[in-house]
Amino acid sequence: MAKAPARKTSKTTRVAILGFGTVGSSVAQLLRAQRFAGIELTHIYNRGVERKRTGATAKGLGAGIVWTEDINDVLRSKVDVIIETIGGIDPIEGWLKAALKSGKHVVTANKQLIAYKGAELARLARANNRVLVYNAAVAGGVPVIPATLHGLQGDRITRLSGILNGTCNFMLSHMEHGAEYADVLKQAQAAGYAEADPSADVDGYDARAKLCILVRAAMQTGISPDDVPAQTIRTIAAIDFQYAKELGCTVRQIACAELRDNVIHARVGPMLVPKSSPIAWSHGTQNMVVTSGRYGGDVVFSGHGAGGNPTAVAIVSDLLSVVHGATAVALPVRRRAVTGEFVAPHYLRFIVRDKPGIVSAISGALTKVGANIDSILQRPGYPKDALPFVVTTEPCRTSTVEKAVRLISKMDTMLEKPLCLQMLTDED
Ligand SMILES: NC(=O)c1ccc[n+]([C@@H]2O[C@H](COP(=O)([O-])OP(=O)(O)OC[C@H]3O[C@@H](n4cnc5c(N)ncnc54)[C@H](OP(=O)(O)O)[C@@H]3O)[C@@H](O)[C@H]2O)c1
Repeated sequence: MAKAPARKTSKTTRVAILGFGTVGSSVAQLLRAQRFAGIELTHIYNRGVERKRTGATAKGLGAGIVWTEDINDVLRSKVDVIIETIGGIDPIEGWLKAALKSGKHVVTANKQLIAYKGAELARLARANNRVLVYNAAVAGGVPVIPATLHGLQGDRITRLSGILNGTCNFMLSHMEHGAEYADVLKQAQAAGYAEADPSADVDGYDARAKLCILVRAAMQTGISPDDVPAQTIRTIAAIDFQYAKELGCTVRQIACAELRDNVIHARVGPMLVPKSSPIAWSHGTQNMVVTSGRYGGDVVFSGHGAGGNPTAVAIVSDLLSVVHGATAVALPVRRRAVTGEFVAPHYLRFIVRDKPGIVSAISGALTKVGANIDSILQRPGYPKDALPFVVTTEPCRTSTVEKAVRLISKMDTMLEKPLCLQMLTDED
């Protein structure tokens, strides 16, 4: 976002919030507490709005606000900026298009909408001389989008990797201390980090939407979330942290993208991360992004990736940039081929009914597809009828190791599908 001459400074900017949940109510309270000059919150829209107006999160907001459950009260009003904190694509896309066409700027925290419809909405905003800003959509309170758009635009970013989902990070960093998946999921749900249906987080859909937004900002490439493979963390068990530790690593849900030979290599899923990497240092709901630029090298961003207040800070900062005259940058976005293929060492964990010859059968399958074993780990003390052990490979293509997993899965000694995780290295 470039700075243009400030909009009429004497004019009050009227603001509406769509969605008075965790983030929307925190935005309203932040505006109340900070009393930014020239900004007036005039409308709050939510379904069943009365319970919101009289609820604890509305305390102190003042009598001048129009609380409504009719979206047209906002769309037809003289509001200057709409802050959207509802989420999802339908019906929000239509409402925000109508808002832009009727001359309203839009600030949103909605990653799914921006990942799938951001380019179209940005075009519409430019055509109407309005601004669409969405810095809260990725990494919550960590300003990684404005940093890549502005602070790093002079570089050529060739790699992005990091933790973009606080819920998974909370769960995996708790599993690091011995807890099992089902127990930490319950904890995450009780703490309000995970939804009753946790799929968007644990199956990687949330992180890959954010990765696509980041790829657009940092690599000027439009990619669809549907083209990015997402692997679930549901199959990670406490034993994987023990083996990871022996390998000097831990396990985190990683979103990564690399621009190589004019192709975007992108993937989201649980991966082994060396303990020496800054990515391994993030605990709880923290987010972290490492960008690698051809000229400037690595830059690390970290902080609160979620939560009402950190996200509200990002939204209100976007609002202030609009008020101060920000104009949309027309990014020279291009389309490039996308693949989930990486060349990396891999971690394969098997649960087998132990019998002689298993290791040589696995080794044979790996050799057949062209992958080499780097190490074999087997912790003592497990029953022979459900024995977990691990093989790591030397760097090989994702598709190669997946081929080996398909062969190995067919072996009658395998009690479940082998777990296959990409391993990050110190160079990543
Ligand atoms: N929470 C975070 O930490 C965080 C961080 C970054 C970005 N975001 C993004 O911010 C947005 C909001 O997240 P949130 O955590 O604040 O969600 P939330 O607590 O569920 O709030 C959403 C609000 O929108 C209302 N709503 C939902 N559908 C509606 C509809 N069709 N019409 C009218 N009102 C509707 C909900 O009302 P009900 O009370 O009736 O359900 C609720 O008050 C999402 O796009 C999310 O991805 C959230």
